[in-house]
Amino acid sequence: MSRTEAAPDQALGDLTERLLAGLPAEAVLTDTDVTASYAHDMASFCPAGTPAVVVLPRTVEEVQHVMRTATALRVPVVPQGARTGLSGGANASDGCIVLSLTKMDRILEINPVDRIAVVEPGVVNATLSRAVGEHGLYYPPDPSSWEMCTIGGNIGTASGGLCCVKYGVTAEYVLGLDVVLADGRLMSTGRRTAKGVAGYDLTRLFVGSEGSLGIVVRAVLALRPKPPQQLVLAAEFASAAAACDAVCRIMAGGHVPSLLELMDRTTVAAVNAMAKMGLPETTEALLLAAFDTPDPAADLAAVGALCEAAGATQVVPADDAAESELLLQARRLSLTALEAVRGVTMIDDVCVPRSRLGDLIEGVERIADRHRLTIGVVAHAGDGNTHPTVCFDAADPDESRRARESFDEIMALGLELGGTITGEHGVGVLKKEWMAREIGPVGIEMQRGIKRVFDPLDLLNPGKLF
Ligand code: LAC
Ligand code: ZN
Repeated sequence: MSRTEAAPDQALGDLTERLLAGLPAEAVLTDTDVTASYAHDMASFCPAGTPAVVVLPRTVEEVQHVMRTATALRVPVVPQGARTGLSGGANASDGCIVLSLTKMDRILEINPVDRIAVVEPGVVNATLSRAVGEHGLYYPPDPSSWEMCTIGGNIGTASGGLCCVKYGVTAEYVLGLDVVLADGRLMSTGRRTAKGVAGYDLTRLFVGSEGSLGIVVRAVLALRPKPPQQLVLAAEFASAAAACDAVCRIMAGGHVPSLLELMDRTTVAAVNAMAKMGLPETTEALLLAAFDTPDPAADLAAVGALCEAAGATQVVPADDAAESELLLQARRLSLTALEAVRGVTMIDDVCVPRSRLGDLIEGVERIADRHRLTIGVVAHAGDGNTHPTVCFDAADPDESRRARESFDEIMALGLELGGTITGEHGVGVLKKEWMAREIGPVGIEMQRGIKRVFDPLDLLNPGKLF
């Protein structure tokens, strides 16, 4: 063996030995078949490196040990939750420590008086939702991946979901954090009180920081009283423009739906093809609206009338909670179903002021035509947050190139319309250059400055965001 090959082995030996000094053997994985399975999240087209080691700590002290080791040996660390992310934000870099927080999955407290939950980062979103539900409480943020994704990942990405049109996104629910810093120190931010304005809002800074500033090891989350079961209405339209008009009428009319989602014809067909859920396939756009108010039927009737005024061809309220849930399941399947159309997808996450939703969708249609591609649009319409999903065959280089170009053109269009390149999926590696375009050089300089304060050696999720 040559010296150049021996050196990395020696370094890896040192690294694992140092890690094992503070972690049990089963928490340090080095089998390359196993570590390779931690290399990337669910985004397509994002480069991922080869991790040196995967660690699965169970305690705050173990996380501190990992960070002290990483700092001592100058090894990059990539924090991970369930790897359901869609921007490559959890992708490994070469020679890194993958720090999976999935074993830190305890719900430490649910407090109905203070209306908070205190959790470790590896708690699965749906597990928390169900647990607080037993106390008559509600944790709203509900990404489509809620049965798998973790609260730590949700905090890292500032995740949204379907109910955000009424209840807001993850950022609104994170009150305080315990964070292990790059050098292993433990910092507490924020509060467990209803109010608190002591100093800069470091809690908010960490939400959406994509693992680049520190390792969240505990979170205080705000809860709400559990609302009544929501009832869903499905409205069919002869054009996506008419559906967008309905969204504008509903929002301008002062209604507060607990969900307002749009699926275009391509998306509806893809869901039907995959799951035979009986969605109406002949319409150009399907709008799902829901209310979790004391009299959802009355609210749905009012919104149904607005849909008809905007030209809905059919308005069908769900009969009961079971039928409502089925419609939501169909919606949550959208992205998976679109993947089956051509084998691979690139999922945009452009969010525009909701008054510009129609312009965005029309622009996406033009981009799809120009590039001769199928782009299905599913949208959190009430938020103006769209997921134009470019379907393509990755084995066809020309189609792949056109897919990437249209993916980029959609972000350009979003910015032109006064929107953002990402409403809820984050920047990761997928949208790095677009982040600079959105934020501008001064903003990027300030962001880099913040990064340097927390992570002077650039060890935390390097190469992400900017
Ligand atoms: C959704 C995820 C992809 O809306 O954000 O289904
Ligand atoms: Zn979404």
